[in-house]
Amino acid sequence: MILRCATTNAGKLREFHLAAERLGFPQIDIQPLDGLKQIEPCEEDGATFEENAVKKAVYYSRYTADPIFADDSGLEVDALGGEPGVYSARYSPEGTDSENNRLVLERMEGRADRTARFVCVIALAHEGRLAATFRGTVEGRIAQGESGPHGFGYDPLFYYPPFGCTFGEVERERKMRVSHRGEALRQLLDYFFLNFHIE
Ligand code: IMP
Repeated sequence: MILRCATTNAGKLREFHLAAERLGFPQIDIQPLDGLKQIEPCEEDGATFEENAVKKAVYYSRYTADPIFADDSGLEVDALGGEPGVYSARYSPEGTDSENNRLVLERMEGRADRTARFVCVIALAHEGRLAATFRGTVEGRIAQGESGPHGFGYDPLFYYPPFGCTFGEVERERKMRVSHRGEALRQLLDYFFLNFHIE
């Protein structure tokens, strides 16, 4: 059965495909929404990850007869009052990964409390109606600097104690086993498998 995904981000799609296969749901075929790039983008102006994910999933579900999910994710740093949060992608004026990382490090200078988490919320919608939302989180710490060539966004800054290194230093497969996105997707696929008829 086809499950549509409202993202054009190739990195995220690869992570979703990998997780679906590894989680034992090869019969669920995750496909991007056809013609997504031609559709007027949905504004992400919600105050929470849930609001943004729900808004996107319901909006894009009007463009397909298949069930569709959208995700919203980001980094929450406790010493920064939960920032960058829903503004993770556009935290710095430039909005690039390297400038966003630089700004987090600058604001964390001299801070002893470096606890942080990645959050991913996935919303599932069908024919203009919300079906359910799923939240995954992973706890870590903001490192003193960037390390590692892997991943994207804040991965090189995110020190994950059980690995003893940052997410930037591990392969995609290893990160997905413990990540916020892997956890939210696991919940989505369980729900989808139980609640949507699969031939
Ligand atoms: P969005 O979910 O596409 O709105 O992106 C949110 C932003 O959060 C991304 O651009 C990244 O900066 C950050 N982010 C979300 N998930 C991750 C992750 O797994 N690793 C690193 N950064 C992430």
